[in-house]
Amino acid sequence: MRIVHSPAAMTAWSEGLRREGVTIGFVPTMGALHDGHRALIRAARLHCDALVVSIFVNPAQFAPHEDLATYPRPIAKDRALCREEGVDVCFEPTTTTMYPAGFQTVVTVPSVARRWEGESRPHHFGGVATVVTKLFGIVRPHLALFGQKDFQQAALVRRLVKDLDLGVRIIVRPTVREPDGLAMSSRNVYLSPEERRTAPIFYRALEAGRKAVERGVKDAASAQTIMRELLAGEPAVRIDYLAVCDPATLEPLTTIGRQAVLLGAIRIGSVRLIDNVVVKTGGKKRRPDR
Ligand code: PAF
Repeated sequence: MRIVHSPAAMTAWSEGLRREGVTIGFVPTMGALHDGHRALIRAARLHCDALVVSIFVNPAQFAPHEDLATYPRPIAKDRALCREEGVDVCFEPTTTTMYPAGFQTVVTVPSVARRWEGESRPHHFGGVATVVTKLFGIVRPHLALFGQKDFQQAALVRRLVKDLDLGVRIIVRPTVREPDGLAMSSRNVYLSPEERRTAPIFYRALEAGRKAVERGVKDAASAQTIMRELLAGEPAVRIDYLAVCDPATLEPLTTIGRQAVLLGAIRIGSVRLIDNVVVKTGGKKRRPDR
């Protein structure tokens, strides 16, 4: 596996392969890789000949009060996972090469980014959209994979790829969960043992909402009540937001039709967790988002 730091070298490698007709797959990450990333890498392998994983803790998507400085950076472990999974290039740019002096362009996707994570973290999606656009420009992949856990991020990336004609196929893969249902996340390491025991209540609440909708609850407020009551049983949990939305537009629903996404963010102590489940009513029975 090659480790590439320079954006120019990364692009040269990709362009060389593209000229030979090689299909390039890409998994962008901020490192601290876990089995969710591993699943994305494995899924990518099925669709491409050459695979790039980027590891870049993107300062532009953190607010000054957030965890940029403490975000886990176990680079040796991350590289080992990439090697194990047969990744061809680990692209590890630096902040200075990504955002050199004079850098000023910001990519925004106003409507998708407006609500939910966008309200709680107003600067966040500008940073994500900008870095993803840059990474696509540098890596020049044919396809890129994202996890469903970051549902709104995936919707934003799809939108920006379409709007800016970036020509990258976006594949979104199901959330990978711990056996007790907690969605895998690089930030789970921040949970104390007690908080970790509490955390699966989030998925249980989302699942309770999903089951209620599948049983015929059509009223989004009732689905919300079911989820909120379960979360209220855990005094350590504070709800940041909890929403029943249209999966395409992310606008809140009053009445649930054929599809909805139940999504939210909670805090347990100082740790913020996000998660979601998609509900489809009618038609074929769906498998839980595991
Ligand atoms: O999901 C993430 O890890 C990040 O938001 C991404 C897409 C790598 C951009 O920094």
